[in-house]
Amino acid sequence: MTNQTGVANAEQIKFWNSVAGPRWVRRQQMLDLQLAQLSVTAVDATGARAGDAVLDVGCGCGASTLALAARVGERGRTVGLDISAPMLDLACERARKEKLGNVTFECADAQVHPFAADFDVVFSRFGVMFFDDPVAAFANMRSALRDGGRLAFVCWQPIQKNPWMSVPVMAALRHMTIPLPASPHAPGPFALGDGERTRGILAQAGFRDIELRGVDSDLPIGGGADLDEAVNFVLELGPVERALGEAPPATREAVAHDIREALAAHQGPDGGIRMASSAWIVTASR
Ligand SMILES: C[S@@+](CC[C@H](N)C(=O)[O-])C[C@H]1O[C@@H](n2cnc3c(N)ncnc32)[C@H](O)[C@@H]1O
Repeated sequence: MTNQTGVANAEQIKFWNSVAGPRWVRRQQMLDLQLAQLSVTAVDATGARAGDAVLDVGCGCGASTLALAARVGERGRTVGLDISAPMLDLACERARKEKLGNVTFECADAQVHPFAADFDVVFSRFGVMFFDDPVAAFANMRSALRDGGRLAFVCWQPIQKNPWMSVPVMAALRHMTIPLPASPHAPGPFALGDGERTRGILAQAGFRDIELRGVDSDLPIGGGADLDEAVNFVLELGPVERALGEAPPATREAVAHDIREALAAHQGPDGGIRMASSAWIVTASR
């Protein structure tokens, strides 16, 4: 599927190279700490063994790619694939610093990239919710797998089950409008939130043995940052910042104030903010 520009996922390619990519690069350490626990759970769900070849789709700044490379060892290999050049630059730099010889990165769209069927595992940590055409994208990722290969990824359940995102959005809505996505399934963090729909997408793409396991956990917002840092983090990375756009300073201040109050209600004794989240760990076989 292509959009009006004739290029699949053109809007997402623009977004992750211009607006979001540089922000994720700036906040990489906080994001990795925030997602650390879910990351371990998702990587474990791959069942990847020493010697396996693993494709990490939407690998971003590379945290899960590096974790998978350590898991498959020197006899294995890991390829991180993403559409965001700035995020891949950081991923490459991290692999170089860790002197990992079994990791490479590719800048490509997982929906249309021509794969050879030479991976044991296709994995993703929150990188498969952004496709124009999810069935085509998952069918294409399936083509990257050898016979007997496996898919494992982690994605968010619906926003209603993810207060870490809905609470700041609700606070901001008191002062501004935030455009709703065209549908709850539109490309974005919650696009695969409906478990039955996601199961159907994978089945249509040709996958078998599809399983979804719900995982509820408290996310350390900004990786355990204090209240002020957590507010800046939420303002910079969420849908609120996009909607604020050119908003006048008074609106920005009011939004920041109310988000601060909303987050403060989730502050623990150590000063960090922990907020509830619900994700799916999805596994399937080729
Ligand atoms: C929410 S971020 C997650 C990044 C990383 N996996 C992590 O957990 O830190 C989503 C990632 O998916 C990538 N992405 C979005 N659409 C993609 C596509 N069609 N092909 C490959 N990567 C894509 C984005 O560039 C971004 O790096």
